[in-house]
Amino acid sequence: MSAAAIKTVQEIVLQTPSAIPLFESLGIDYCCGGERTLAEACARAEVDEPEVSGRLARLNNPPHSPELFLTIPLSLLVRHIVEAHHVQAREQLQLLSLLGARAVRTAGARHPRLYRIREQMADLADEFSVHMLKEERVLFPYIERLDESAASHMRLPLHSFRGLGIQLRVMRHEHDVTTQLADALASALAQVLSESASSSHERQQPCAAVRELAEAFETWRKALHLHLHLENNVLFPRAERLEEELALGR
Ligand SMILES: [Fe+2]
Ligand SMILES: [Fe+2]
Repeated sequence: MSAAAIKTVQEIVLQTPSAIPLFESLGIDYCCGGERTLAEACARAEVDEPEVSGRLARLNNPPHSPELFLTIPLSLLVRHIVEAHHVQAREQLQLLSLLGARAVRTAGARHPRLYRIREQMADLADEFSVHMLKEERVLFPYIERLDESAASHMRLPLHSFRGLGIQLRVMRHEHDVTTQLADALASALAQVLSESASSSHERQQPCAAVRELAEAFETWRKALHLHLHLENNVLFPRAERLEEELALGR
């Protein structure tokens, strides 16, 4: 077993951000399963661990810097998550809704499974939009207050601590649920595409609307992984440490 095999996936992506596209291409979960060792993560993704470790070692050759977001102030990190990831997620979910409706319209009769896919996508979009709002209205303002207190060396009164641990457990659980549903939808879309490819009717006229929907969904899913990685692996652990330091008056 290689030295990398016993590192956690989280440690690897924080030290070597260029591992992220490699993990993404191999189906290794680095956003919600960051606490698993590389060996465990490879076993789950059914990929060969020594082969992955070899590719990781080769990634170290180009210059790379550790995850920038480990050092910038938490309020800047929060702002980046909202302005880059939340804004992008809302735009992508809106696009998926349009593409889903078009796919049902043009190919629903041949692929009735598309009706269910569109319904599940709408549920996922609603739930994830509520999740982002909870972060923006409750969790992130609290983290920003922690950051301001630390910057101004102010000690927070004990009653102002709201038990970040419970809030983060809920957020992490919602991340897990979202990624599982997204994985299931990606498989369902792949199945429709393969049915479409094997149908004699569509071989001459491939279903462009379904293909476009599947591609846009994949783009959203990759962006989701990066978004949740920044929260699960960077923002949440840093915020928990800061809250503890402020509570202890360090
Ligand atoms: Fe978020
Ligand atoms: Fe989140």
